[in-house]
Amino acid sequence: MLSLPFASTLVAESTTQNIINVAYLVAIILFVVGLKKLTSPTTARQGNFIAGIGMFIALVATLFMENIVTYEWIILGTVLGAPIGFISARKVKMTAMPEMVALFNGVGGGAIALIALSEYFVWTDGNVGVTTDVEVASLLSLIIGSISFWGSIVAFLKLSERIKGSPIALPGQQFINGLLLLGAVGLAAFLLLSTGMDPYMLTVAIAVLAGVLGIFFVLPIGGADMPVVISTLNAMTGLAAAAAGFALGNNALIVGGMIVGASGTILTNLMAVAMNRTIAGVLFGSFGSSGGGGGADAGEGPQGTVKSTDAASAAILMAYAQNVIVVPGYGLAVAQAQHTVREMADELEEKGVSVKYAIHPVAGRMPGHMNVLLAEADVPYDQLVEMEDINPEFERADVAIVIGANDVTNPAAKNNEASPIYGMPILEVDHANNVIVLKRGMASGYAGIENELFYLDQTQMLFGDAKDSLSEIVQELKNV
Ligand code: TAP
Repeated sequence: MLSLPFASTLVAESTTQNIINVAYLVAIILFVVGLKKLTSPTTARQGNFIAGIGMFIALVATLFMENIVTYEWIILGTVLGAPIGFISARKVKMTAMPEMVALFNGVGGGAIALIALSEYFVWTDGNVGVTTDVEVASLLSLIIGSISFWGSIVAFLKLSERIKGSPIALPGQQFINGLLLLGAVGLAAFLLLSTGMDPYMLTVAIAVLAGVLGIFFVLPIGGADMPVVISTLNAMTGLAAAAAGFALGNNALIVGGMIVGASGTILTNLMAVAMNRTIAGVLFGSFGSSGGGGGADAGEGPQGTVKSTDAASAAILMAYAQNVIVVPGYGLAVAQAQHTVREMADELEEKGVSVKYAIHPVAGRMPGHMNVLLAEADVPYDQLVEMEDINPEFERADVAIVIGANDVTNPAAKNNEASPIYGMPILEVDHANNVIVLKRGMASGYAGIENELFYLDQTQMLFGDAKDSLSEIVQELKNV
């Protein structure tokens, strides 16, 4: 029979565990509700907040777990980490968001790999018997977490142009990568099956092999494909977290990890489709220029002459139109012209002109870039029209005004088989009756190729920074 104090301890422990489990369940529900709300721009902020509350509940509940040995390190980590996260998230420029996401994702992967490593050492040091499935799960999270950490760091360096964005590969790179993967998995299998081997050396060797694989996995991928890589790495971090959750017997980590893993995989697929690339082609090919002006071989350049216009003529053309389609691209983000474009649309609407925004899924440099940018300027969501829905409307559009968009409007994607973007779905701006293109010069976009749209009869170029040009147009519209 149990003595009374021991029984009461057990009851207290199981009550705490029950409370933790309930808290985890609430957190998981909040994750799912938050994710659902993230699917629409109208509810996205709310969704982010709800998922954040879920994460906070899960964190607090975890702090009450009986196997937390010391709070000092946790407090130190929080005091150091929280301000860094808070300040960098507040200060980051919209254009630097992709590299920020890469960095945050890398930190997640790295944390998971370190947890797996330390758990392994705890088991070994304490001679704690662990079952094979738990061991497999933790070795898996070590391998995937290391790949994800180092891969994300390279993605961050490429996106922030600290290293060149164009593909960097050794001869036989895919073969070398295959060997590294085989090495990491082989050592893990060896560790599982052998007895008396030094687990310290082996686990560190596994982490190093997987880390080098992460670096070699991302280096050969060009800048243009980087967001696809980030979402793939994001999915991997999720999987690593889920595996770590399994190893630690933590349900919130399992579910949270699987949600990240599944959404990262879906996003990877959506982006690959929007760029007309296969996921394997992105990850194991080497398409993708450095990010502007790279001059990929696209066969013969466009023929014809380029006509330029001024803000006054552009304003008159739009003021007397019935409908205008705004086509935003990366240049809008660079110029931070989202508020000015909204002002222009307001002026036009006051004159009875119907205004819509054509949203290409990969316009800009990250998924949903244009939606986020225009939402910041309070552009009504119902005016943002997805590519498939807006394309049939271009031929009825009096004016399409292209603001810092290039590749996503390039007709070569439909009619030039030699073009590296051939097959990529585009906004069919070339069907509009009049096209005004706002950009600073004749530089190419991300794919590094010329755009024949600029040479068409109905196209006029308004050269200059997008924000300056739009401000002038707004002034002119006020005078019309
Ligand atoms: P881009 O093709 O990169 O073109 C942007 C244009 O903006 C440039 O030609 C540039 O011309 C102009 N620009 C830059 N700063 C400007 C400023 N201050 N004022 C006015 N214009 C300015 O952009 P896009 O059409 O949005 O296409 C996106 C590209 O990124 C595609 O190739 C896509 O595949 C790639 N990509 C996107 C994603 C995601 S998820 N969004 C992922 C991977 C790859 P000037 O220098 O002459 O001004």
